[in-house]
Amino acid sequence: MTPERRTRSGEPFWGRRFRNHAALCWAPAKVNLFLEVLGKRSDGYHELETLMLAVDLFDMLEVVRVDDPVIGLSSTEPGLDTGEDNLITRAAVALHARYRPEAGAIIRITKKIPMAAGLGGGSSDAATTILALNDLWGINAPREELAEVAAEVGSDVAFFLAPPAAWCTGRGEVVEPATVGEQLDLVIVKPPFGCSTAEVYSKLNVPKSPVNGDAVRKALRRGNADEIGRAMSNRLQEPATAMRPGIAEILRSLDFEKPAGVQLSGSGSACFALCRDRREAMRVADAVRMAGPAGVTDNDVFVVRSWPTTV
Ligand code: C5P
Repeated sequence: MTPERRTRSGEPFWGRRFRNHAALCWAPAKVNLFLEVLGKRSDGYHELETLMLAVDLFDMLEVVRVDDPVIGLSSTEPGLDTGEDNLITRAAVALHARYRPEAGAIIRITKKIPMAAGLGGGSSDAATTILALNDLWGINAPREELAEVAAEVGSDVAFFLAPPAAWCTGRGEVVEPATVGEQLDLVIVKPPFGCSTAEVYSKLNVPKSPVNGDAVRKALRRGNADEIGRAMSNRLQEPATAMRPGIAEILRSLDFEKPAGVQLSGSGSACFALCRDRREAMRVADAVRMAGPAGVTDNDVFVVRSWPTTV
């Protein structure tokens, strides 16, 4: 099945509709090719510049429209909180509060994206929920309004309305779509522990001279993996590694294979290697599985591609 379809209003969303009352949707993961912190704000958030790239590792959502104004969520993942704090529930509630449709939704989430990993799984699920319900509830709001709802739910949610790539600023919610010159191949490695985003930010030293992201943006536009790899950086890598030394071991095992670039994604704990092609990605993944950094199993190593394809 191809995970790309269009809604009745013509907006793309990553799903398949069934008889106007149900949808099966794919929510992609992301990695941060670049993340710089410009300062701490009075609201406690940090002012950012980040280049995000969506990849073809997906959670799956089954969304069913019901006549009663209730929001129900269930999950295949025993560890997942399906209560009102879940970003899917928060997204559905926020959309409902704004547009007051005379309907509700029952949602089932199948998790494949590792959690607390800096891969944006929860945010992507929330954005996908907004897109699916915008359609199933017949709201058909424009993308700019949906981005406002997304920003209420979390800093990274609005990005997932605009894959495959975007330059995100503010606290992450100001999204400028970016072009991916060539499809990119990556390897993602998830350690056996997660990282708390709030804790990583709290350990951060805000730089006096921030790194400029122009080079990485230009490199992504050209689609040259070596160039992107040289220009990649993530300000959160240092505090996350200080908190969790296991991250350094994974970065080293990826770096040993000399891919185009190696980095932590977001606030971690997942790390990734940017590779020159699929063949190299398979080789790097095999090597990391063989090396087996502390607690990493075969299932924690993912060979992925930028998604959706625009080239
Ligand atoms: O917005 P979100 O709920 O994803 O953020 C989680 C936490 O990460 C925030 O409570 C904050 O501590 C930290 N954060 C930050 N600056 C950002 C984004 C997140 O300090 N730009």
